Amino acid sequence: MEITIRQMTADDFPILAAWMVETPLWQRYVLTVERAIANFQNALTAADWLLAADSPNMPVCGFAWADPTGAFERSPYLRLIGVHPSAQGTGVGAALLTAVEDLALNTRSSSDLFLLTSDFNEDAQRFYKRHGYEQIGAIPDYVVPSITELIFRKHLK
Ligand SMILES: CC(C)(COP(=O)(O)OP(=O)(O)OC[C@H]1O[C@@H](n2cnc3c(N)ncnc32)[C@H](O)[C@@H]1OP(=O)(O)O)[C@@H](O)C(=O)NCCC(=O)NCCS
Repeated sequence: MEITIRQMTADDFPILAAWMVETPLWQRYVLTVERAIANFQNALTAADWLLAADSPNMPVCGFAWADPTGAFERSPYLRLIGVHPSAQGTGVGAALLTAVEDLALNTRSSSDLFLLTSDFNEDAQRFYKRHGYEQIGAIPDYVVPSITELIFRKHLK
């Protein structure tokens, strides 16, 4: 399947926000459409990396958001990645993750990429491990009480 990865634009924000709030993961974090759009807007203003994915069946079927120096003001931090439920398992997530890694390597010459994932999100943990990420720590009760955030790191070079 032909997947296109491109820069996200403000036109994508409401489309993404509409399906993000229907996603069980982000319902656990009590995400609203307004909050999701505000987060993307702030990220755009901050010149974070914002990528969108289009597939032939569904435009704007996935996204990735990374802060170029969000980990310890030194390394890129993948804030969020998501794929619409109807497009999951078709390689969109892999294409987005690879695009973020390419940005880290080519625009910042970064040797590492960091991210957090929820303790209950076993699908995402398997996804990251298959792409070379290793769990290096855990932060209990951090973003939301009762959820532990697992810290993952990948050596890019
Ligand atoms: C985690 C997530 C981003 C992965 O995206 P995805 O597009 O489903 O990822 P991929 O399609 O590249 O890989 C997922 C699975 O599909 C399989 N797959 C990949 N390409 C495929 C293809 N062309 N055909 C069939 N299966 C494929 C992979 O083997 C993989 O298997 P796994 O379940 O053992 O990991 C996505 O599932 C998601 O958005 N989940 C909800 C939000 C979330 O959890 N975000 C991460 C928060 S930290």
